[in-house]
Amino acid sequence: MELDLKDKVALVTGASGGLGLAAALALAQEGVRVAINSRARENLDKAAARISGETGHKVLVVPGELGVSNIVEQIADSVLRELGSVDILVANAGGPPAGYFLDHKPETWRKAAELTLHSAIDLCRAVIPGMKEKGWGRIIFITSIAVRQPVERLIISNTLRAGLTGFAKSISNEFGPFGITVNTVCPGYTVTERLKHLAEVESAASGLTVNEVFKNMAAKTALQRLGQPEELASLIAFLASNRAAYITGAAIPVDGGLYKGLL
Ligand SMILES: NC(=O)c1ccc[n+]([C@@H]2O[C@H](COP(=O)([O-])OP(=O)(O)OC[C@H]3O[C@@H](n4cnc5c(N)ncnc54)[C@H](OP(=O)(O)O)[C@@H]3O)[C@@H](O)[C@H]2O)c1
Repeated sequence: MELDLKDKVALVTGASGGLGLAAALALAQEGVRVAINSRARENLDKAAARISGETGHKVLVVPGELGVSNIVEQIADSVLRELGSVDILVANAGGPPAGYFLDHKPETWRKAAELTLHSAIDLCRAVIPGMKEKGWGRIIFITSIAVRQPVERLIISNTLRAGLTGFAKSISNEFGPFGITVNTVCPGYTVTERLKHLAEVESAASGLTVNEVFKNMAAKTALQRLGQPEELASLIAFLASNRAAYITGAAIPVDGGLYKGLL
C-alpha cells in the first residue's frame, strides 16, 4: 500500500529505543524526514545511525528530557528551524514508575504527570499552530492498553493515560476542521527495555523468573505471544498517512488480544 508520506516531517519523542524508535524507523522507511528526541544524545546518535543505515535518509537528533520545563519549546523550535515544519507528531516517552497506590509519594505522581501528560500537551501546543496553517496534521500518542483495562501494579500509568486519552479526543474535535487527525495507539505487552523492566519488577515480587513472567504475559493474550515494536509502528505509519484520513479521535489497541472487552 502506498502511504504517500514522502517529504512530510515527523517529530517522534522518546525515540532512541523501543516503540518510539520503531515508529521513527517505520516513518523514515516511508520517506518521512524524521526528527527523534530522547534524553541521552549517545542513545539518539545510535538510533539515528540505525535509521539512516536502514533507510538511507538523514535523521535530525534533538536531545532533551521531556517533563522538564521549557524543553518542549526548545525541541519543537529546533525541528522547525532545521526541517521547516512538524507535519506528524508521535508523542511518546518512558513509562511512569510501577507500583500500587500506597507505594507512591505525591511527588512521584506529580513528576509522572509532568512527563506522561503535560509534556504531550505541551508538544501539541508547540506543533498545532503550524499544522493549522497548513491545513494538514497528524498527532499520534503512544499510550497503553491500560486505557481500556487498567494494568495491575501500574496505577500511575492507568490514571495519567486515561487523562491523555480525554485530551486527545477533545483536540480531535477542536482541530478536525483544520485537517488535523488525532489518535492514540494502545500497546499491550511489547518486547522493549520497558517491558523487561516491568518483568523484573514482577519477578522480584513473585519469585518467578523473568522468563516465567514473560510466559505468563503472553498467555494472557489471544495470540499467546508478546508483541514486537514494529507491529505498533506499522499502525503509526498508517495513521500518519492520507490512507487514514477519516480516522480521528480513536484509541486503537495493538495488544494481541490482551484486552477482553467487546469494544
Ligand atoms: N513496551 C510495552 O509493552 C508497553 C506497553 C504499554 C505502554 N507502553 C508505554 O509506551 C511508551 C514507550 O514504551 P517503550 O516500551 O518503548 O519504553 P522504553 O523501552 O523504556 O523506551 C523509552 C524511550 O523513551 C526515552 N525516554 C525516556 N524518558 C524520557 C524523557 N523524560 N524524555 C525524553 N525521552 C525519554 C528513552 O530514551 P533515553 O533513555 O535516551 O531518554 C527511550 O528511547 C512508554 O510510556 C511505555 O510505558 C509500553
